[in-house]
Amino acid sequence: MLRYFFAAFFLVTCAVLALAGFRGQKSGLPPIEIFPDMDHQPKYQPQHPNSFFSDGRSARKPVSGSIPLGYSLSGRFLQSGAKNGAPIVSGEGVVASAGFTNLPDYYNTGSMGKVYGDGLPLNVSAKLVDRGQERYNINCAICHGRTGHGDGIVKQIGSWATVANLQDARILSMPDGQIFSTITNGKNTMGAYGPQIAVEDRWAIVAYLRVLQRAQNGKLSDLTAEQRKEIEGEKK
Ligand code: HEC
Repeated sequence: MLRYFFAAFFLVTCAVLALAGFRGQKSGLPPIEIFPDMDHQPKYQPQHPNSFFSDGRSARKPVSGSIPLGYSLSGRFLQSGAKNGAPIVSGEGVVASAGFTNLPDYYNTGSMGKVYGDGLPLNVSAKLVDRGQERYNINCAICHGRTGHGDGIVKQIGSWATVANLQDARILSMPDGQIFSTITNGKNTMGAYGPQIAVEDRWAIVAYLRVLQRAQNGKLSDLTAEQRKEIEGEKK
């Protein structure tokens, strides 16, 4: 009996040594790849030479007039960088708007400590809401639909069942800060839009979403007697 035990012990020791014993050893040979996945692709690494272009570089210059992410043209709506100190002017009318800040305050996170805050930290104006409408239609409507009912083109064609209906009671009562945070960080299958949409624009979208929700949930009783008469007059 003991003989078998020793034989098994010996075999197990060899197996463990064979599997783990050579870990950390250095070798000049290429590693054995069982699943190469997409490790090897025909591509140029940054700063590598390339004989295809006459200047011999693989990296191309940005198209003239390109605006770096987080910057905006001076005189345009987004100039929020001026808030946290003077804007950084970087030549040719391009101003660093610092539209992509990540300070831990309510304006940048939608949270106050560990809880979501409610309320917009910007002055709500028609200009802000218009901007929000434009940004919403560009960034959100493809999935959530122009009215927020979760029936955008992606939902219709991609039959993506989990796209949220933003007119749900749950989202009607969701704090503004949580919606801001959802845009910034994403939620489950929804990706993060923080890297694409500047902070001020995210709040503009929240403001517009509130307008959409109000518009879809209006009641006749919200109107004054005079306004109701006016509508009834129109019906006739
Ligand atoms: C590519 C599709 C897509 C886009 C674009 C998109 N969303 Fe979503 N969104 C989703 C999906 C899917 C969910 C549901 C995620 C889940 O909980 O599984 C969701 C959920 C939400 C929720 C609910 C979050 C919660 O806590 O339940 C809010 C609010 C929201 N989105 C707002 C927005 C806003 C505002 C934009 C535009 C900036 C946007 N979404 C852009 C797909 C998208």
